[in-house]
Amino acid sequence: MKKLTRRDVINAFQPAKEITNPKRFAGRRKQFNRALEALLADGAHICIYGQRGIGKSSFSRQIADVASGETEILDALNLSEFKDEKFNFITLRIACEDSVVDLEHLIQRSLTSSEGFAKWTKSEISKKIIQDARDFSLVPGGIGAKTHHHEVTEVIPTKLSLIESFIEVVKDAQKQSSDGILFLIDEFDRIKDPSGLASLLKALAGVNLKVMLVGVADNLKDLVAEHESLQRQMSEGAIPLPPMEDSEVIEILNKAVNSLDNRISISEDVKIKIAQLCKGQPYLAHLFGKYSLLDAFRSGTSEVNINHLDNALSSIATEGHEVQLEERYRRAVASSAQRETVLRAFAAINRDKIHNSEAYELCPNIDQPGVYLGHLRQDKYGAELIDRENRYHEFKDALFKAYINATPRRFNSSS
Ligand SMILES: Nc1ncnc2c1ncn2[C@@H]1O[C@H](COP(=O)(O)OP(=O)(O)OP(=O)(O)O)[C@@H](O)[C@H]1O
Ligand SMILES: [Mg+2]
Repeated sequence: MKKLTRRDVINAFQPAKEITNPKRFAGRRKQFNRALEALLADGAHICIYGQRGIGKSSFSRQIADVASGETEILDALNLSEFKDEKFNFITLRIACEDSVVDLEHLIQRSLTSSEGFAKWTKSEISKKIIQDARDFSLVPGGIGAKTHHHEVTEVIPTKLSLIESFIEVVKDAQKQSSDGILFLIDEFDRIKDPSGLASLLKALAGVNLKVMLVGVADNLKDLVAEHESLQRQMSEGAIPLPPMEDSEVIEILNKAVNSLDNRISISEDVKIKIAQLCKGQPYLAHLFGKYSLLDAFRSGTSEVNINHLDNALSSIATEGHEVQLEERYRRAVASSAQRETVLRAFAAINRDKIHNSEAYELCPNIDQPGVYLGHLRQDKYGAELIDRENRYHEFKDALFKAYINATPRRFNSSS
């Protein structure tokens, strides 16, 4: 067997990248079942939501792949129930950046982007609409800019409004495939004003178009705040992605080791410890896995042990492997060992809402912990803790909370 290289080891985990390879995708079987049922249900849309970094884009990409007939993941996850189903959707994927401010921008993007509808249009009129949208997108403000509305209708010779043009294109494109279109809109939460989507979907009711909205939110209502109509349209295929189970985190580790043909292994106690530390955050599983594996590789051993994991956690805290979370940590703590103690006390309590007194018990040597708690609520220190009334606090971000807990103190404990 070929010798393991550093390149192999570095790429076994991928903290910075969404999963695209089904062999690397772990867990999420329950949610997969639900999403596939929604794919099969006529007229149902899909809505995937959860915390930042919890795996929404990776998950929705796999669903889109199955929808377009690439079913390798069904074997990889042993989802044999769906093996005999045929999926034949055209799948389109748009990720909303901050420049997509409203529904019209989104429509414009879907008409002009190379990943959008263009490839699937056959009729002369829809080709013309797309060409006009492309030409028009070069105009400052673009086709979606409200001030240019009258110009849009001038440019499109058929005198259709932008919405009507879009419907025309969708109707044309859906004919190219028996299941029609699955339109994946990732980072939907970044659209400042998504109003109009409910009525657009109503107008498209007879057309084979399924929308899959994906975004950061605690619940469906937060993601599709527009109005109840959109919530109803999305409710059949609403799929919350919770933090992963420990067994799913361990599956991430196993799949990484498999990708190296098991030429290096991770000891069982390390797997269990990483699962405990991650609190269901797949990003942290990749981060901790990656640097533990590298440490083991550097020391020439063929099994990752607890020492390698400990070294990895310290090096993450000191060597800048993870810039974003580490910068937040440093901003929150700044130059105060006391503030670090208070921050870590809140992070150590394994509940979302934490009573102040419970955290204070964990820092008996701090004179006035309330002062530091006050800091941790301020923007200056990143406002990582949020006041939940009656002396309860909650972390703004569960991923950051798990990161604090998993990595060692930056100030030494006597300071
Ligand atoms: N099912 C999974 N199996 C293995 N790794 C996963 C899985 N889901 C997510 N990951 C990993 O977790 C990290 C975050 O995943 P992803 O980017 O899909 O999350 P997200 O919820 O879309 O994040 P954001 O909120 O930033 O858009 C990536 O490193 C990805 O490789
Ligand atoms: Mg994402």
